Amino acid sequence: MQVALKIWRYDAATGDKALREYEVDAPEEATLLDCLDLVKDRHDGSLAYRKSCRMMICGSCGMRMDGAAVLACKVRMYDVAQEGRVPVISAMGNLPIVKDLVVDMDPFWDKFRSVDPYLQPGYQEPPDGREHLIRQERMNVIHKEALCINCGLCVSECNSMESDPRFVGPQALAKAMRFVGDPRDGQKLARLEKLNGEHGIWQCTRCYFCNERCPKGVDPRDAIAKLGAESIAEGIDRDMGAKHANWFVHSAKTTGWLRETELVPKTQGVVSALQQTKFALSLAKRGKVPPPFPPHVAENVQEARALYEVVKARGVKGAAGIVQGERALSRIEHTNHDQEKTEE
Ligand code: SF4
Ligand code: SF4
Ligand code: FES
Repeated sequence: MQVALKIWRYDAATGDKALREYEVDAPEEATLLDCLDLVKDRHDGSLAYRKSCRMMICGSCGMRMDGAAVLACKVRMYDVAQEGRVPVISAMGNLPIVKDLVVDMDPFWDKFRSVDPYLQPGYQEPPDGREHLIRQERMNVIHKEALCINCGLCVSECNSMESDPRFVGPQALAKAMRFVGDPRDGQKLARLEKLNGEHGIWQCTRCYFCNERCPKGVDPRDAIAKLGAESIAEGIDRDMGAKHANWFVHSAKTTGWLRETELVPKTQGVVSALQQTKFALSLAKRGKVPPPFPPHVAENVQEARALYEVVKARGVKGAAGIVQGERALSRIEHTNHDQEKTEE
């Protein structure tokens, strides 16, 4: 099959930049990486990109195809060629480009190292020199985080990192959760304290692009939610983001709604709320916010309260609660799917 590609060529040493088009004759099973190999082999040996395993294991071949981060060895080109599309291939985002599709991974590894990505069990040894025995339920909490291959696709797509390059970022935070959630680790509280600092977990905007682009199902945004839940469960809730989350729970429990008009005084304090009065009034004038008094209470508010009590009675806190919620949601999805099938 004939595959056409447009590739952004760039040389950091000279600043030269150009979008070049190439066409290769590739076998039907070819991936994007195979096509790049053909370009390099037959058309232009100076094209720079990274690769190693060619089977979605090493995480080397991250790049962007039509603006979305992909592993080049995971993308089959058959459909693209059949549609006659000419995709634009460029380097990953949020990392400095060295040459063509090769980025400087040093900032990525700096963030990775900043979360102490290794187990710190302290001096707690299992008795009689035995191994640590851990229940499967405890390991389920960090199962997804352990799948990360450090490819950087999530970092490439992270909105928060774009506006604040010092934000710890999705990959490092997923790695942090891998150890915060490990029952053998002895530094859980110290880790959470650090992650609740400036540029930490609460800086994530919840855009979910990291979940969407991760090729391994790590779901870094979910890992960040777990870190938030663990922090609150441990009483580390001084950040505005944590106060925000706590207020949402309280508001849903008491009224069945998210009372956003009270969000600012409850999370930022009364002084900050007063400073924003003019803005709040302009929103109210345009009907963007309901009047705060009397508080709007949902008709079936007892359902929200009962749900809160059920969750509380089960006593599953922190990350384990999020994992339990994920499983419940997937069961609902399957149930609905089955119902649809029956209705058909
Ligand atoms: S959800 Fe958060 S960590 Fe993930 S890409 Fe968006 S801002 Fe970044
Ligand atoms: S979390 Fe996913 S996208 Fe991010 S580095 Fe790990 S494997 Fe890659
Ligand atoms: S070459 Fe290893 S993940 Fe693509």
